[in-house]
Amino acid sequence: MIYLDHAATSFPKPDRVLRAMDDFARASGVNPGRGGHRRALEAEAMIDETRGLLARLFRLSRPERVIFTLNATDALNMAIKGLLKPGDHVITSVLEHNSVSRPLNRLEREGVITVTRIDACPDHRIDPADVMRAFTPATRLVALTQVSNVTGTIQPVGEVGKIVRDRNALFLVDAAQGAGVVPLDMQADFVDLLAFAGHKSLQGPTGTGGLLVGERAELSPWREGGTGGDSESPVQPSGYPHFMEGGTPNVHGIAGLREGVRILLERGVERVLAHERKLLSVFLGALNNAGNFQWYGADRVIAGRGGEGRVGLVCFNLTGFAPAELAAVLDSQFDIAVRAGLHCAPGAHRHLGTAPLGAVRVSVGIETTEEDVVTAAHALNEIAGA
Ligand SMILES: Cc1ncc(COP(=O)(O)O)c(C=O)c1O
Repeated sequence: MIYLDHAATSFPKPDRVLRAMDDFARASGVNPGRGGHRRALEAEAMIDETRGLLARLFRLSRPERVIFTLNATDALNMAIKGLLKPGDHVITSVLEHNSVSRPLNRLEREGVITVTRIDACPDHRIDPADVMRAFTPATRLVALTQVSNVTGTIQPVGEVGKIVRDRNALFLVDAAQGAGVVPLDMQADFVDLLAFAGHKSLQGPTGTGGLLVGERAELSPWREGGTGGDSESPVQPSGYPHFMEGGTPNVHGIAGLREGVRILLERGVERVLAHERKLLSVFLGALNNAGNFQWYGADRVIAGRGGEGRVGLVCFNLTGFAPAELAAVLDSQFDIAVRAGLHCAPGAHRHLGTAPLGAVRVSVGIETTEEDVVTAAHALNEIAGA
C-alpha cells in the first residue's frame, strides 16, 4: 500500500515509536501518581520528560504548562471553552478546521461571543492587515491555523502574533498540521495557546495531542477529576499541569509520542519540511500532463519555487471524476490511500470554489519516499489517460 494520507494521521509510525511504546507498556505502563510506587514514578517521569521535549520543540519556557489531550480537537476545545467569556469577540479565518470553527460557531449561536471570520487572499494566506482591521475593543482571542489542511499553505503566524500581542489579546494557533513540519516558536511568534495533534507529523499514536499554555493565558479547566495527588482538595488543584489534566493519561500513547518528538528533535523540523517539499515537486514533475488536473493551491509555479510557503500536501481534481470516485479508484485499483471530500474544513473549500464535493488530497510524511509519489503520479497518469 502507498499511504498518502499523512495529513489525517501519520502511518506507519516509525519503528522506534512502536518499539518505545511496546517497551514502556511492558516495563512501566502503569497509572502515574505522585508519591506512588516505583513504576508509577517511572510513568510520571516519562510523561514529564515528554512535556519537556515538547516545550523545547515549541519554545515554551514552562514545561508544566504542556497539557496532554486526546487529539488536537480536544486541545482546541480546552482552549476555546476554557478561555472565552460572555461578550468576548474572536477573530478567526475561513480556512479553519471544524475543530476550531464548530466550538466558535456554537458559542456564537448561543449569544456568548461574537466572531469575525477573515477571508483568505488568492495565495491562500491570511493577510495580517485584515486581522488588524478586524479588532474591536472586545477582541479577546485570535484563533488561526498554522497550516491549512486543505491548501497546505503556511500562515503568517509570527506577523499575526505581533499584532495580537500589541493589542493585548490572546493568540491561539491550531498547529495540528504544522507541528513537526514547520518550525513554531511560541516566544518569537507571540503564541499564547498552541494546540497540536501528537498523531500526525509528531509521529505519536492516535489518542495523543496537547495544548501548550503560555503564561498570559488564564484558562478554566475543561476536564476535572483525579490527579493522583491533592486528593483532599474539593476542587481541581490550581497548579499546572494537574489543573488542566483530570483522569488517567494515555501513558502508552505518550511513551510513543516521546519517541516521535525525540526523532524530530534529532532530525530537525526544517529537514522534514525540505523532505516534504522535495516529494511534492517530484510528484508534480512525474505527472505527464498536470494540466489535465485542477490544482488548488499548488500549481506548477509553486512547485517551481521549491514548494516555498507550503507543506507536502496538495488538493486537486480530475475532470470527469467526483473526488470520492477518484480516491476510490486509487484505493481499489492501485492500493494508494488518499483523502477526498471537504477535509473537515468546508470554509477552505468554499474559498477554493471546490464545495460541496471538495477535492482529492495527497499528503506526504517523513516515511514517504520518492518512489511512493512517482508511483502515485503514474497511477494518476494512467487514470487521466484512460
Ligand atoms: C488543521 C487541523 N486542525 C485540527 C485537526 C483535528 O485534529 P485531531 O484529529 O487530532 O483532533 C486537524 C485534523 O485533521 C487539522 O488538520
